[in-house]
Amino acid sequence: MQAWKDYQSQNKDRFLSELLDLLRIPSVSADSKYKADVARCADAVKEHMLKAGCDKAEICPTSGHPIVYGEKIIDPKLPTVLVYGHYDVQPADPLELWTSGPFEPVIKDGKIFARGACDDKGQMFMHIKALEVMAKTNTLPCNVKIMIEGEEEVGSNNLGKFLEDNKERLKADIVLVSDTSMISMEHPSIESGLRGLAYMEVEVTGPNRDLHSGVYGGAVANPATILCKMIASMHDENNHITIPGFYDKVQNLSDAERKAINSAPFDLKEYKDELGIKEVWGEKGYTTLERTGIRPTLEVNGIWGGYTGEGAKTVLPSKANAKISMRLVPNQSSDEISDMFKKHFEKIAPDNVTVKVTAHHGGEAVVTPTDSPAYKAAAKAIVTTFGKEPIPTRGGGSIPIVALFEKTLGLKTVLLGFGLDNDNIHSPNEKYDVANYYKGIETIPYFHKYFAESVKG
Ligand code: BES
Ligand code: MN
Ligand code: MN
Repeated sequence: MQAWKDYQSQNKDRFLSELLDLLRIPSVSADSKYKADVARCADAVKEHMLKAGCDKAEICPTSGHPIVYGEKIIDPKLPTVLVYGHYDVQPADPLELWTSGPFEPVIKDGKIFARGACDDKGQMFMHIKALEVMAKTNTLPCNVKIMIEGEEEVGSNNLGKFLEDNKERLKADIVLVSDTSMISMEHPSIESGLRGLAYMEVEVTGPNRDLHSGVYGGAVANPATILCKMIASMHDENNHITIPGFYDKVQNLSDAERKAINSAPFDLKEYKDELGIKEVWGEKGYTTLERTGIRPTLEVNGIWGGYTGEGAKTVLPSKANAKISMRLVPNQSSDEISDMFKKHFEKIAPDNVTVKVTAHHGGEAVVTPTDSPAYKAAAKAIVTTFGKEPIPTRGGGSIPIVALFEKTLGLKTVLLGFGLDNDNIHSPNEKYDVANYYKGIETIPYFHKYFAESVKG
């Protein structure tokens, strides 16, 4: 559409500088030190919604960080798209590994470097800019509701209640989310599923205080050694997870479905080289794409205990701890898996230690159908702006609220993500390619257009 093209090219520098301003706000949801910055970011998002042409936009306080909600209703009889995204970001540490400040965005080689550049400020902001393009050119083909939360990176604990309390206000025909990745600009793809999550924390306690490792070592069980053994025992020699019942409900895919997943372009050598690893690892009998898309996994996210400061201290620690998360696939229940983990971890603990297991946040896996009008509208939008049919892929990440869109609001979601796997999300030097940012702004209006046409027609 020429009007869209013109508006975009006339405003592209501003579209970029506005994003950079948003990236300067350190909206780290996990760290209470940034609470005021998170609130400031919510305000900025609200102002942008109004400037983009929303009829109304408001800050909705929660017992955690606020949700920003805006809408532009042009005709209640037209279809409605509910856009979801998040303005909160992951903590930036380790700071010393960043080549420029995480909240001082810079553009190098056509890439925007900053925490949140891709996940998810850059991607959610494309929707506000796409809305602006459609609103200012008087070409909005449907109603748009837009909900941007500030707690995605800490588990969306208050958003579920917001959905319950605002069912009427959030009524829509589809949810549209840009918070996932695609294979590459040459191979555009659409994720057709997300994994679920069960996040646990464990503490293993031995003696009632730290001990001299010469005086007591060899005679008292070391909780750090015990914890390592317990963790190591949770994968067998084929890298299957050993928690009893863990795989019971896992949905096994047909040969045809597996073949489709493995037909996506993927170069194992490039994958290894890019990560600096000599060999890949994983569950026997599955390819790398299957291991990260359709199979459940268990990972240690952090492990600590004893002396980790400068120099050496000869100590036998009293406690050792770990944070362990499991990625889940359709039909596995996050609560059930948390219970199984807890029982198993308690059972395998030897008598010389005591263990404490606590569950953090979780969420359920989802699959988004690839034969729905909404998916087809997204695919057609990609064809329009990339000149290529998108490849459906199964993504490995999690967005817990997506399962609740279906459960609470009865809405399906389309995951129209423009990130790349090497965007370093959650890592130092997170980036988002300027080209992907513009391409997203260009593509999103077509989704609205084709979706509106398909629902009407
Ligand atoms: N945007 C990501 C999820 C994602 C990343 C999906 C890449 C697909 C591809 C999201 O912000 C995220 O990081 N989610 C967390 C879970 C959350 C409960 C902290 C995750 O996947 O670890
Ligand atoms: Mn995200
Ligand atoms: Mn994230």
